[in-house]
Amino acid sequence: MEALLTSLADTALAEWMRLSRWGYAAINALHVLGIALLIGAILALDLRLLGWRQRLPVRELGQLLQPVAIAGLLLAMATGALLFLADPSGYAAMPLFLLKLALIALAIANALLLNLGPGLENASPRRQLVAGTLSLLLWPAVLLAGRMLAFVDG
Ligand code: HEM
Repeated sequence: MEALLTSLADTALAEWMRLSRWGYAAINALHVLGIALLIGAILALDLRLLGWRQRLPVRELGQLLQPVAIAGLLLAMATGALLFLADPSGYAAMPLFLLKLALIALAIANALLLNLGPGLENASPRRQLVAGTLSLLLWPAVLLAGRMLAFVDG
């Protein structure tokens, strides 16, 4: 594992992430843009799943908001992988970073279980409430863990 992390750190892309001040800043800004798209869209959908604004059809809201959330997640994952490249061994040794990855996996599993199971609009109100509540807790926890990474030591 350590050998893999070291060889990742030795790639030209990793070196560019470490040496290019504005390159790193741009990737960081794109990471934040991805997070904004993801959290903004998913929060609105979660509130509807919790029972807010029941006049608005879940199906149509999902058709609008889920693609935005997925695009944001993909952008956050791609740019997050680049940020990770700047110091693979350092991040892999940080419990908070590993917690963040675990929370992302749980949040994605929660969304997949709802969509591939009963489906967004066919789920019972109770199932929607459970999935919406979990999503509302997990994604902001990911955001908090990500932001706190800069403030914890190794
Ligand atoms: C596989 C996906 C992801 C990876 C590998 C990843 C990795 C990283 C890394 C390495 C950093 C830099 C930490 C530092 O300051 O030293 C970071 C920052 C951050 N990440 Fe992620 N991330 C991912 C997805 C996400 C997602 C989905 C969210 C939010 C829902 C998120 C939220 C944040 C936040 C808020 C920051 C701090 C940004 C800043 O203040 O400049 N990350 N991420």
